[in-house]
Amino acid sequence: MSFFALFRWFPAFLMLVLMACAVAPAAEQVDEAPIIDPMDIHHPVAGRSGMVVSQSMIASEVGADILARGGNAVDAAVAVGFALAVTLPRAGNLGGGGFMLVYLAEEESVFAFDYREMAPAAATRDMYLDEEGEVDLKRVRFSHKSAGVPGTVAGLYRVHQRFGTLKWSELVVPAMKLANDGFVVGYDFSGSLKRRQDRLTRNPATRAAFFKEGGVPYEAGELFKQKDLAWTLKHIARSGPAGFYEGPVARKIVADMQANDGLITMDDLANYRVVEREPVRGTYRGYEIVSMPPPSSGGVHVIQMLNVLENFPVPEMGAGSADFLHLLAETMRLAYADRSEHLGDPDFYDVPVDWLTSKKYARELASGIDMGKARDSAEVNPGVPAPGESFDTTHFSVMDKSGNMVSSTYTLNFSYGSGLTVAGAGFLLNNEMDDFSAKPGEPNAFGLLGGEANAVEAGKRPLSSMTPTLVFKGGEPFLATGSPGGSRIITAVLQLLVNVIDHGMNIADATHQPRIHHQWLPDILQHEGAVNPDTLKILASRGHDLRQSSALGALETLSYRNGIFYGCSDPRRPDSGAVAP
Ligand code: DON
Repeated sequence: MSFFALFRWFPAFLMLVLMACAVAPAAEQVDEAPIIDPMDIHHPVAGRSGMVVSQSMIASEVGADILARGGNAVDAAVAVGFALAVTLPRAGNLGGGGFMLVYLAEEESVFAFDYREMAPAAATRDMYLDEEGEVDLKRVRFSHKSAGVPGTVAGLYRVHQRFGTLKWSELVVPAMKLANDGFVVGYDFSGSLKRRQDRLTRNPATRAAFFKEGGVPYEAGELFKQKDLAWTLKHIARSGPAGFYEGPVARKIVADMQANDGLITMDDLANYRVVEREPVRGTYRGYEIVSMPPPSSGGVHVIQMLNVLENFPVPEMGAGSADFLHLLAETMRLAYADRSEHLGDPDFYDVPVDWLTSKKYARELASGIDMGKARDSAEVNPGVPAPGESFDTTHFSVMDKSGNMVSSTYTLNFSYGSGLTVAGAGFLLNNEMDDFSAKPGEPNAFGLLGGEANAVEAGKRPLSSMTPTLVFKGGEPFLATGSPGGSRIITAVLQLLVNVIDHGMNIADATHQPRIHHQWLPDILQHEGAVNPDTLKILASRGHDLRQSSALGALETLSYRNGIFYGCSDPRRPDSGAVAP
């Protein structure tokens, strides 16, 4: 196509992309992208002075406003973290936990913050087993005992203390205002409340906080205020973590626990610790991949899988081809087998990270892959290291004009966590204890298996799949991404990276590409509806047991190239958005 033909079609094409991505960018931001570079024109949002992407357009706007006021990426990320707790209550949270990677341009270093929930001191290995020794699903998922000690407030405070530049209260107040003055409910939020109306209205505090009189869900277009949550945020704005882990808010949490046979005590809250960890690192065809280490399994297995893929001519296979999807599935099967055996909280269990992420082990794994035939998971066992060696979560990424990057995923585990709201404090409790292996050999809600490494223990952090990830090219910031989706998070992030690096896609195309997922057990290959039916036939003929699945993850990605920030929020979750200041 000639340059002029391209130019003629560009406005129509741009409109299509904007409609598909449900994003309304400032026109001049998009126009800044060079028209003749197809890598650029596919992007829904572009800007020059930083960018925020999250699963809530309102929260992204809060972050962009912080950047516009001179805050850095960390300031903006903290403000987004609090705003999501108001505008996306099914995953944004004060009562949950997560992980955050911060790249500080000045120091050319990545810092990994673990603000995952901790098991309360009274937690014991068999606490979720009934008299017959079976897992009591109600207790582990929907009771006050399902909550780990929340880490979000401490985590956001720690990153602010380390790298923030604006005043702490300035970052909490936008969320407090959104809670107090209310925001307009969207279809997605209204629908999510309707779908879970039965479960959520059973708890009187949740019913009072998230529903109208009589337990009636809010409709799109209505104003939704959260006065109790605003009260909690006021304490946090004034007193930092002491406003949550001590004082009146903490007393409300503990009163709720005592009234409902929960475990969390004032001591548990006071003893919550954020841990700064060494990020896990790898390389893939010349790019540097930096991701979250254990107690997340995400970083280890993304790097392990990339290492395996590096042994194959992935670019030649082509995106969406049967060979490529087969190779992905076989690689995923191997990684998830290892996850079941070797991954857990590194403060309690010796996780063999170096071995799992080594190129040598990846070559061994790669040599066992048969391109013509799916292996039977029953015949695939977790590797043995050489001696001596419903879901809802949400992700947000920020980049600023100084080159700083933040990538954070946090969660309540299920959509709306345990469904239990702290009475008078307006926030939901997580049910993250289900991420432990309540009983070896019994799958958790995501079908994931685990054993000793991930057994319940006081003070321990449950194994996670959350995979906040940063990518560098020639030492320069290139990409920040992450996703919700439970066990599917790791494979969603993997596919985004491979689509960008091997298949030459920009982040919008890489996000929109249909995804697959295999997790060793159950031995099925999940795929999104848009995978080509001819391809599916070939995969079936190679022995894959195929199941069509709803959305596999929802990526929130930023990239930086040639002085321009690009953002793509995954249309698999509505109301999300990338915003530039
Ligand atoms: O940490 C984990 O791996 C899970 N608690 C994440 C749950 C999740 O992503 C649910 N999302 N859609």
